[in-house]
Amino acid sequence: MRLLLFGAPGVGKGTQAKLLADDFRIPHISTGDLLRTAVANGTELGKKAKVIMDAGKLVPDDVMIGLVRGVLGSPAASKGFILDGFPRTLNQARALAQMFEELGIHDYRVLNIEVSNEAIIRRLSSRLMCRNDGKIYSTETYGATAGSPCPDCGGELYQRDDDKPETIRHRLEVYSTQTSPILKFYEDLGVELTVNGMDTVENVHRNINRLLQSTELR
Ligand code: AP5
Ligand code: MG
Repeated sequence: MRLLLFGAPGVGKGTQAKLLADDFRIPHISTGDLLRTAVANGTELGKKAKVIMDAGKLVPDDVMIGLVRGVLGSPAASKGFILDGFPRTLNQARALAQMFEELGIHDYRVLNIEVSNEAIIRRLSSRLMCRNDGKIYSTETYGATAGSPCPDCGGELYQRDDDKPETIRHRLEVYSTQTSPILKFYEDLGVELTVNGMDTVENVHRNINRLLQSTELR
């Protein structure tokens, strides 16, 4: 199973990726999570990425391509993966196609999750993440607030620095101008699948699995 999760910020890529990674027992590779780990560890990459992420902009292609090349080539990803948040530019999509060629990967799908902008803004404004295990929650469904303990591991739940209204608006603009055009690239390759993300987490998860079954990817 090699799956790319695609869609605007807040459509539920991370939420669904974690469920699918559990279903298929393969790694969830989120470029956003990799960058947030670098930020938390105070590495050089983290210091540079934080400024860009907090502004809602994209980290340069060469940095992201190098990061993903390293992870996809690792033994952990050899039996499959859920890639979340990459590619985000046409350059990244072309570089990924080249990586797949080098790794002999020909069978993969791009799952595009669609959600209205109003719902995205509501979801991102109420999102909480666990500082310890990266699990994703919502103040709307869990009734937790920033600073509450993670129900799973007890780590601190926090609001992401890029989930402020101004930054959310900018991330949506960046998605619309730089990232959404990639869909055509994958439609032309015949590997794109679209799922409606305007449903409960459980129903979206069930519909994704049905879609994957119908395309014989699982
Ligand atoms: P990244 O971390 O990838 O952020 P994103 O794409 O903006 O997407 P999000 O993580 O915000 O949303 P999501 O779709 O994962 O939704 P989630 O499941 O959390 O990237 C962050 C930054 O890193 C970028 O802005 C950029 O600077 C940099 N970056 C990363 N990759 C890069 C790349 N390739 N190139 C360049 N720069 C890069 O859900 C959101 C909320 O909704 C949660 O509260 C959740 O509980 C809730 N929710 C989920 N599903 C549902 C549902 N069905 N119903 C109701 N609520 C739901
Ligand atoms: Mg995410």
